[in-house]
Amino acid sequence: MISELAKILISKKTILQTEKEASLMCRTSEVIKNGIIVEIGRCRGGSLILMCKSSPSSVVYSIDISDEYNQMVKNHLEYLNIQESQYELLEGDSTDISKTWDKEIDLIFIDGDHSENAVFKDLSNWIPSVKKNGFVLMHDYFEKDNRKSQVRNAVESYNKETNNSLKYINHKNRMRLFQKLF
Ligand SMILES: C[S@@+](CC[C@H](N)C(=O)[O-])C[C@H]1O[C@@H](n2cnc3c(N)ncnc32)[C@H](O)[C@@H]1O
Repeated sequence: MISELAKILISKKTILQTEKEASLMCRTSEVIKNGIIVEIGRCRGGSLILMCKSSPSSVVYSIDISDEYNQMVKNHLEYLNIQESQYELLEGDSTDISKTWDKEIDLIFIDGDHSENAVFKDLSNWIPSVKKNGFVLMHDYFEKDNRKSQVRNAVESYNKETNNSLKYINHKNRMRLFQKLF
């Protein structure tokens, strides 16, 4: 059911992921019950929709610096019967929002600015709010022709700085799942 929805969202470019990446994101969200999920980077709302559908008892806080697609996202959420209590659309820079954030996070999906500096900042600002054994999903994590993506460089630097606090769990294409050990 959710995989059919993912296929439609991908075909309409409402989500910027492959089917396998979306499937890993959905399977991870399904594990979260009555939890707090945060996504940095909402864009057209495809990842928000799939996480809401995969973890209906949780609240998904979706952050984006741009409000360009907000009306379209709201229309899609309503059309798909996703209740307003299941999500919150936060507008602003992820660094600014992290300064007043006060909830423990079960799963964070970091998919905003993919430059190395920005990803490192998102990790440093947000991972302290992730619960021990909570999940961290990163998009655009890869290595090609011996060159690492900026997301991968940032995660490796963050892990070096924090004595490998993020443990690799799984990956599909350019989506990488980690667990926060401490
Ligand atoms: C790759 S898209 C997100 C795709 C979406 N998660 C999906 O799977 O379809 C990246 C989004 O991050 C947003 N963004 C970029 N820099 C940001 C920042 N500093 N804070 C919050 N959002 C940011 C952009 O506006 C853009 O909509």
